[in-house]
Amino acid sequence: MPAVASPPSAALDVLGVPGEINLDYAATAPCARAAADAVTELLPWYASVHRGAGALSRRCTLAYERARQTVGDFFGAGADDHVVFTRNTTDALNLLARSLPAGTTVVTFAGEHHANLLPWPRGSVRLPVPANPAGAVRDLAAALTELRRDSNPALPVLVAVTGASNVTGELWPVAELARVAHRHGARIVLDAAQLAPHATVDRRALDVDYLAVSGHKLYAPFGAGVLIGRADWLDAAPPYLAGGGATSRVGPATHDVTWATGPARHEGGTPNLLGAVALAAVCTAFTDADRVALAAREQALLARLRAGLAALPHVVELRTFGPDAPRVGIVSFVVAGQDSATVAARLAAEHHIGVRDGLFCAHPLARRLLGEAATRTGRKDLPPTALRASIGLGSTAAQVDRLLAALAELA
Ligand SMILES: Cc1ncc(COP(=O)(O)O)c(C=O)c1O
Repeated sequence: MPAVASPPSAALDVLGVPGEINLDYAATAPCARAAADAVTELLPWYASVHRGAGALSRRCTLAYERARQTVGDFFGAGADDHVVFTRNTTDALNLLARSLPAGTTVVTFAGEHHANLLPWPRGSVRLPVPANPAGAVRDLAAALTELRRDSNPALPVLVAVTGASNVTGELWPVAELARVAHRHGARIVLDAAQLAPHATVDRRALDVDYLAVSGHKLYAPFGAGVLIGRADWLDAAPPYLAGGGATSRVGPATHDVTWATGPARHEGGTPNLLGAVALAAVCTAFTDADRVALAAREQALLARLRAGLAALPHVVELRTFGPDAPRVGIVSFVVAGQDSATVAARLAAEHHIGVRDGLFCAHPLARRLLGEAATRTGRKDLPPTALRASIGLGSTAAQVDRLLAALAELA
């Protein structure tokens, strides 16, 4: 078993409640010290953003725009990109969906989270879940070739993919998919909700056109996410939220409005200053951290968790690409013969361990993987929903071992 290094310290320490074991980072990660400190420091100055001339307002406006710069830099935004603050990844992808030029076809895989399946317009193409990452690249190339042959080549195409699966943690071949998309004149958006907490995500290095992230999965508090990407579609689209802040001029007639361009166009209403500042503080803390060491630590914990689960005869892991596919610290599994909701409730009540159960807002993928697990193992007693354990900065070997011991006891 690989050794697990000490947890990170200082800015990337996470807050928590003693005695409670949180193994549900993929749903919402605990708040990092850096985020909590940034919020505490700004709270006395709390005032309007982009709406006041007072010293407090000016400081808040500056803090908000600095946060935009920090978050954009962290995710490799280009000089001409827009960095639009949203509520979360779902909000960011919905914003992009509303900004698509008329006639855009969106191509996704059925392995996506609902946030990257449901916002897209009618006529979108949903490709089957591939058997492996190379298959994803091949299937996308074939689908785009066909699409370009059968439809007007002037019409835009957007490919929408995840960086890491929220069900299995498996990594998708984002850079290769981006190359294929661009070769066919398509754009690509990366749902980085699950990848960003575990690995560096750089829009220009990956050569994706847009990326979407949730602050609450990245150790910042709820309510702040971001959409980063090319300006042209965003500036041409109707404002996501019509209202104050999104306009540059409003005349007396009902529809006499000139909408702002830039991020303001889609940030109508008073923005979430504390959320943006907290997210930026986490980005800075990650920039200062040794991400290679953090990833190595996480992989050691993940290996411990997966080896422990594999040693339990009544536990079956869910996977898309195979046991050795690279993945982040997320594992879904079932306990044969036991209802997953009941197992999760017992882990909470009897062991103070928090995990997720259900189909993880990825129903098509989760159902498929449950069927695959039944076929692979030949078992007829697998439940219709699953459990998910996910780890991150505050996770320890002792916590993983507690989960494994509790699952062994449940048998
Ligand atoms: C891969 C993926 N995309 C998108 C989302 C949606 O994130 P949010 O609920 O923060 O909008 C999630 C949430 O679990 C996710 O795992």
